[in-house]
Amino acid sequence: MLKDKIAVVTGAGKGIGRGIALVLAREGAAVVVSDIIEDDAIKVAGEIEESGGKALAIPCDVSKKDSVDSLINQSLEKFGSLDILVNNAGVYPFVSFADMTEEDWDKVLDINLKSIFLCSQAAARVMKSGGKIVSISSIASFVGFSGLTHYCASKGGINGLTRALALELATSKINVNAVAPGAISTPGSSVVSNEEAVKQTVAAIPWGRQGEPEDIAEAVAFLASSRADYITGQVLVVDGGYILR
Ligand SMILES: NC(=O)c1ccc[n+]([C@@H]2O[C@H](COP(=O)([O-])OP(=O)(O)OC[C@H]3O[C@@H](n4cnc5c(N)ncnc54)[C@H](O)[C@@H]3O)[C@@H](O)[C@H]2O)c1
Repeated sequence: MLKDKIAVVTGAGKGIGRGIALVLAREGAAVVVSDIIEDDAIKVAGEIEESGGKALAIPCDVSKKDSVDSLINQSLEKFGSLDILVNNAGVYPFVSFADMTEEDWDKVLDINLKSIFLCSQAAARVMKSGGKIVSISSIASFVGFSGLTHYCASKGGINGLTRALALELATSKINVNAVAPGAISTPGSSVVSNEEAVKQTVAAIPWGRQGEPEDIAEAVAFLASSRADYITGQVLVVDGGYILR
């Protein structure tokens, strides 16, 4: 499905990003595995190469313009072009609105939302023969979660950015879409929820289980492929039915 395509995935050292990197590679793409933690990116790139795929690990802090520009430049130097950008890196530290500091707010907005502006702009400039941008939003862009006002705002921002950018980039034949995961089992989510919280969450999911990174990765792979050429500006919810009731 993605043979000969070049993809950059941010925050791909673990969790959903790792799942996306592995599935894009399985579908034939050469994958730039990027993460703020270089060792994790190297591990995932190694997994891809061990199973016969092409990968390169590049460290990047998606909230910093210099770091993002360097990621895109190094990707081009290695692979010569760029077809797919997956904006996955994100954080979700719980803090009540009353206790939230300006630093808390800025950190989440910078990593989750400003990053999408920085990465998408740098990538779109070099997607000379069209391309696909897929950002990882969240069901938190549609429904509220206590302790995550900054996060919900950042994910709502992604949906708005996705629609506006899809309009601007249509003439360049760059599709811009987002995937909004529900509750997905990842290292990050296991830090913020205990066994009881997971039980309650699962009870609220019509599909009867938490999602796995692969559930999100399959949706991303589809949106990153030519099968989705006529889809742009959309936010695809992948949540086992969580927000239907
Ligand atoms: N897990 C869920 O239930 C869930 C639900 C909805 C949306 N999401 C979204 O999916 C994405 C991935 O979440 P996850 O659960 O896999 O998280 P995770 O914490 O398991 O993994 C996130 C990865 O991003 C990296 N990262 C963090 N800050 C970074 C930065 N500044 N620059 C580059 N990389 C950075 C981390 O090192 C880590 O490898 C996030 O955007 C998150 O908001 C997750």
